[in-house]
Amino acid sequence: MTDTPTNKTQSEGENKLPELNQALWQYDGQPGQLIPLLQRAQETYGYISEKAISYIAGITGEPEAKIYGVITFYKQFRLAPVGDYLIRVCDGTACHVNGAKDLLEVIYDELGMDGSRDTSDDGTFTVETVACIGCCSLAPVITVNEDTHGRLTPMKLRKVLKRYKRRAKKELAEATAAAPAETSSAGA
Ligand code: FES
Repeated sequence: MTDTPTNKTQSEGENKLPELNQALWQYDGQPGQLIPLLQRAQETYGYISEKAISYIAGITGEPEAKIYGVITFYKQFRLAPVGDYLIRVCDGTACHVNGAKDLLEVIYDELGMDGSRDTSDDGTFTVETVACIGCCSLAPVITVNEDTHGRLTPMKLRKVLKRYKRRAKKELAEATAAAPAETSSAGA
């Protein structure tokens, strides 16, 4: 199987069980400690995997259903890996009154998402709304990974997203083209 960036992140995360172990051995049965453990799991993996949930359940004795309940209650926790491009839509006051909700609709439409999940089916884009990111004079604002895009209109936003889609497609094509070469050189 081609090791896409998302798969790579996942497999790197799965190799970090020892780091998670360090957090788990300190667990002393206090109910309030479940949240720090979940935070640690998310820091370690980038999200909270099924494997991490059953591991935490085994150590703490808490039912997996309860752990899922806690994860889905708090917006900070993720049950799936973050995409290669993390899009943050500011919904602070200045951005909200300048059309942040419209931008979100455009993003879902342009990326073929329906809003029920925060990551696109191919694992390329993750979309989340955040509070003020500190550049209100540019409202409405989004960030994509480290880049900030401000004073957006729906039309400008579509152009921005099309650029990222082209970039993602190119990166995928390059990764796919490189895969057979890596396989043959590994076998040489
Ligand atoms: S409200 Fe969006 S940057 Fe401040």
